Amino acid sequence: MTLIDPVLLKARLAGLAGRFDVDALDECDSTSSELMRRAERGAPSGSVVVADRQSAGRGRRGRNWLSSPESSLTFSLLWRFPGNAASLSGLSLAVGVGLAQAMENLGAHGVCLKWPNDVLLRSGDDFAKLAGILIELSSDRRGTQAIIGIGLNLAPPTGDLPQPAAGLSQACPQPIDRHDVFAAILGQLAAVLDTFTVNRFFGLKMKWQSYHAWQDQAVQILGDGEELKRGRCLGVDDDGALLLETAAGIERIFSGDVSLRRA
Ligand code: BTN
Repeated sequence: MTLIDPVLLKARLAGLAGRFDVDALDECDSTSSELMRRAERGAPSGSVVVADRQSAGRGRRGRNWLSSPESSLTFSLLWRFPGNAASLSGLSLAVGVGLAQAMENLGAHGVCLKWPNDVLLRSGDDFAKLAGILIELSSDRRGTQAIIGIGLNLAPPTGDLPQPAAGLSQACPQPIDRHDVFAAILGQLAAVLDTFTVNRFFGLKMKWQSYHAWQDQAVQILGDGEELKRGRCLGVDDDGALLLETAAGIERIFSGDVSLRRA
């Protein structure tokens, strides 16, 4: 029996259960790779692969994503959109909004978002990573498919980590069952992806900014550890680009090999 029982999950999803087709695996290489293979064989929009263990979990920028079964929730969701990949700018930010709203609905405090797509937990002046989002797009004449990969720490991870990490258990006053967490996330993802399909990121921009960790603060944009730019972070535009106020004026920073640090 996997840690996610599809029958229990279906009951938690209630009226939304018909929108998702969830397969729970003990182990796979990567839920995103597995779902990509299934998508190539015609899996429908709303297909989900959740796995207790990934032997080759992938993070952004070619990094590995390590997780342990008891303390994490790792899954990927297939969603199909009309239009080309360029029309989906801001999608990863939209997914971040869905995650933050789901956690807030579960009673979590201090959840916030870091551009472009990290979910953080704030504790005083410190931030630690709660969840990561990896979105992989591919288009053909019918539209664009997104494989939305999410790794959430349910408990704080241990070991040698590249950055401070936190667990949802630290943000919630009560212990939460992983089926409740998963159902809350899928429910909010359905809601934000519906909004995004109609209104694109414009429909979610204000919400994203309400969760933004460093709104109106001094930040640095880093590439390969080197400072590329610094300025005041004004938030994001309708396409999800970061707006940075510098001596040269307001610059738009696009998703890419950059990181944001508090200056
Ligand atoms: C990041 O680097 O912040 C994004 C991490 C995304 C990890 C998730 S875990 C489920 C899915 N399968 C993968 O191989 N990666 C994503």
